[in-house]
Amino acid sequence: MAMVGKSATMRAQYTAWPYPQLPLLAGLPSTHPFELHVDWLWDRAGSGPGPARPRIWLAGCGTFQPYAFAVANPHAEITATDLSEASLAIAGRRCQWHRQRHVRFAPVDLEDPATWPCGRFDLIECYGVLMNLADPQATLRGLRERLTDNGVLRLMVYPHWSRQRVFQLQRLARLLGFTAEQRQHPAAFRAFVRRLPRNHPLRFAFTTYADSRNDAGVVDAFLHGGDRGFTAFQLGDLLAAAGLQPDYWFHRPWAQPEAMAARLGFADRPWSLVLDHLDLWQELRTNFIVCARRTDAPPRVVQPPRPHPAFVGMDHALRHRLRLLRLQWLGGKLPARTAAEAIAVPAGAARALARGEAPGELAGSALLLGGTDRGIRLPAHHPEPGEAAFLAAAAALRIGRRAPNPLYAHLFAAFERDRRQPELALPDLETQMGRWLPWADPLEQRPIGFGLSPYATNQRFRINIREHLEREPLPTAADWSAVRLRQDERALGTVRSLLAAAPEVPTTTLDDASLRELFVLLCSHDQLFLNLEGTS
Ligand SMILES: C[S@@+](CC[C@H](N)C(=O)[O-])C[C@H]1O[C@@H](n2cnc3c(N)ncnc32)[C@H](O)[C@@H]1O
Repeated sequence: MAMVGKSATMRAQYTAWPYPQLPLLAGLPSTHPFELHVDWLWDRAGSGPGPARPRIWLAGCGTFQPYAFAVANPHAEITATDLSEASLAIAGRRCQWHRQRHVRFAPVDLEDPATWPCGRFDLIECYGVLMNLADPQATLRGLRERLTDNGVLRLMVYPHWSRQRVFQLQRLARLLGFTAEQRQHPAAFRAFVRRLPRNHPLRFAFTTYADSRNDAGVVDAFLHGGDRGFTAFQLGDLLAAAGLQPDYWFHRPWAQPEAMAARLGFADRPWSLVLDHLDLWQELRTNFIVCARRTDAPPRVVQPPRPHPAFVGMDHALRHRLRLLRLQWLGGKLPARTAAEAIAVPAGAARALARGEAPGELAGSALLLGGTDRGIRLPAHHPEPGEAAFLAAAAALRIGRRAPNPLYAHLFAAFERDRRQPELALPDLETQMGRWLPWADPLEQRPIGFGLSPYATNQRFRINIREHLEREPLPTAADWSAVRLRQDERALGTVRSLLAAAPEVPTTTLDDASLRELFVLLCSHDQLFLNLEGTS
């Protein structure tokens, strides 16, 4: 495949660092990925019973998804594609090792439709890929054209606000010269971040990020060659412009927009506003994962209740039959991606499922299809023209004696939103805090007292934040070269000494502007406000 620009960069990165980095032998019990079964996804999205032999396209599949979808869909025709042939080779070996033979592999550039597989698909999975593309809108429109009438597209994109710490770590890595091109850099960056104090929010973000333990995961998150997040409003715009509508959120209950809208008094507000609110308040706790259908898809269907086909009868491969028998004799627990907890399956309920019954004890559980319309009941997304200005203001470098610390810019965005975007008709900050009171689940715990969630930070600095909100808007500086820190020379010296004591840092010379930015990223975490002077 000939390619230029973004695709070439992505191909180089994911060829050198196939993702995810998991042992070939890592197995997935056949009863676990039941939420990836086409019948299940069609049911949740309102498409009714899935086809007997569905066509599935994994667009940007990485090294593991082909195996997971093959286990979940033994009767499907699966096409797994990726830009990285190294990832495809690993995924192929994994499927071979685990005797999953119904997957076809092909190199595909999602930026170039000429390379795409032929025909239409009942399920397209595009998970964690769109934010790598130069023109996500064009690709999404193309994927929509490849859906069958009732077909479902499952999409995962990073949320803009919840991922700010990852983006700050990316910035830190770039300033220090860590890149995906050097084999030793992921481990070196890990060592550097671990030098930060235990109560530093960037260290917390890094160490609690599951993928930070392996080098390909560090590259995928922190040394990435160019990803981005989407706000919920941007996601709404993307879907609408592609002719797609969200039909089911693949989130655990906390981030189900319906549930949170009811709790926060937003039940009559568009889904995009509700999800954006969760994201901004750091209460989403997941990426945006949505099952979407074409806007011209047939009307939603609610089937009569029936058990998940993977648990019915004994017409399965030997290994799966043995797992079902074990469940039917001993019962067990199944992990769920869309429920708060693992699903407890008593042995009697497993036997009822096997007979094709929908046992009452599993009512409302993810093991049953049909019975209820699980569609999105919140009003549709509508564009928010004021958002671009809000995003620009949130990212601006404000100056003054008590300027918001840029390390906490996304928290200030939550505090300031009702004033900056009156058109959203949000309640004032006091009222918002009151509504969060029973529900907020602050991330802060010892040794970190504040700075991870707006809720906990506001609890601690309520008066200072109110004073800040009462002030005139502060002037802004174009960049770090137009700013001086309090005791500027001393601050620069502090960063120089810190870097001198960290032999793993690749960069040896940094200009003063970069040193100031590094001071704020590395040494200012105990201050919510900073003294930042403009030079002009
Ligand atoms: C974060 S990984 C996600 C992998 C997989 N979907 C998963 O969830 O495990 C992103 C994947 O997108 C692929 N990718 C990036 N740009 C692409 C493009 N233009 N066309 C096809 N695949 C691309 C990468 O090679 C990589 O495997």
